[in-house]
Amino acid sequence: MRIGVFDSGYGGLTILNAIRKELPQYDYLYLGDNARAPYGTHSFDVIYRYTLQAVKYLIEQDCTLVILACNTASAKALRTIQQNDIPPLREGLGRTVNVLGVIRPTVEAVPGITKTGHVGILATPATVSSESYVLELEKIAPELTIVQHACPLWVPLIEAGEHNEPGAKYFIGKYLREILAKDPQIDTLVLGCTHYPLMKERIDNWLEFRHELDESEFPQPTDSPKVTTIAQGELEAKSLADYLSRHPEYREQLSTGGSCTYLTTENAERFSQSASIFLDSPIHAKHVGLSD
Ligand code: DGL
Repeated sequence: MRIGVFDSGYGGLTILNAIRKELPQYDYLYLGDNARAPYGTHSFDVIYRYTLQAVKYLIEQDCTLVILACNTASAKALRTIQQNDIPPLREGLGRTVNVLGVIRPTVEAVPGITKTGHVGILATPATVSSESYVLELEKIAPELTIVQHACPLWVPLIEAGEHNEPGAKYFIGKYLREILAKDPQIDTLVLGCTHYPLMKERIDNWLEFRHELDESEFPQPTDSPKVTTIAQGELEAKSLADYLSRHPEYREQLSTGGSCTYLTTENAERFSQSASIFLDSPIHAKHVGLSD
């Protein structure tokens, strides 16, 4: 049995990479629903339906655990799938299956990182409107001041392979400026979408040099704190390792060939080319279709 890793597109590769570093012995099946990305601008019903189709598909392909390596799917669909869909699937298959998300492991890391107590969440419109981060953070650290900001154009930039082009700089700066204007005391920014780490270097660069940017119409207060960005890969990987150590009923079912198969709902060649860049090694993806 394998571990399934699902995202709307390329973003989940940032999680898969970290998981494979932490747990290289297992076999993985990655599925990117690139044909229908971005999810972050869809309604609850659509995100839930697409995510459930993907989860069922991965379970049919011998996955015992499915990681929703997508904040949007985790925020909108995880709970309903865990509560309503997994129990009948388990019963029908007569084996243990489960779905895990990315939000909780990230939230747990935040209080230990911020010094000012001011935290920003950058995410897709769907994740922001779900308020999942705010609700989860309030439970464990009610003293924190949290602001959220939706970045609807970052996922399309990455899916189109435009995020390293010069024009992307405008949109990177736009959302960072906007969230820091909401709360200049922010010292911790959660990259609450698994696509965003693919631009982390450029985001960090903008934050570091923001006082010197040639953007005099948007002056950044010079006394504002240094900002740390949180990417989710390592947090999710450690959380999965911990989960497997506590759940032998999953761990013992997993095969240990160290392989990874890549599936996409878009053109397989295009996915392989882009994913090979993100992963720093060539891969050969296969095309699949998803339906109810
Ligand atoms: N990687 C997904 C996330 O973490 C992107 C969602 C989208 O497709 O808009 O939210």
